[in-house]
Amino acid sequence: MLTQNLLHSLELIIKAIGADKVGLRLSPSGTFNDMTDSNPQKHFTYICNELNKYKLAYLHIIDALEGDIRHGANVVELSILRDAYKGILIVNGGYNKEKGNKAIKDSLADAVTFGELFISNPDLPERFKTNSRLNKADPETFYSQDEKGYTDYPTLT
Ligand SMILES: Cc1cc2nc3c(=O)[nH]c(=O)nc-3n(C[C@H](O)[C@H](O)[C@H](O)COP(=O)(O)O)c2cc1C
Repeated sequence: MLTQNLLHSLELIIKAIGADKVGLRLSPSGTFNDMTDSNPQKHFTYICNELNKYKLAYLHIIDALEGDIRHGANVVELSILRDAYKGILIVNGGYNKEKGNKAIKDSLADAVTFGELFISNPDLPERFKTNSRLNKADPETFYSQDEKGYTDYPTLT
């Protein structure tokens, strides 16, 4: 039922603005806010197969995070979803420069994005390019209300 709602919503959005302007983000192994799935590998492989017909701008998959694994998530292998989905695939979830480059080299993803690393390193591309040290993110300031922890991490210069 949820899958049908997802696909129906996608169809309405695509009708309104065109598939090339629509991206979708999925968390197959996510446990945030008590998310669970009885058989995520089966369900998300089905969804990835179905998505092929829409020619979306991209599909973005969040890999299992450490917190999900601690919560006993039924981890879905990225390679299975990569095989199922034929369009542009973006991933994130605990990636660093090396792991990201490897995922692209191994054709597991077309692009890799960074959450926490970008929060704590506003000049992340420059740091990657120059192999510079990275600021560590402070989880205490996540989801807070002011600029602390969002716009006050130092740049290299
Ligand atoms: C402070 C914070 C806020 C976030 N807010 C959102 C959000 O509003 N929507 C969303 O889809 N993901 C959100 N995320 C999740 C990130 O986009 C990303 O998927 C997650 O942090 C895993 O990637 P990472 O290991 O590179 O950080 C947030 C993450 C953090 C740390």
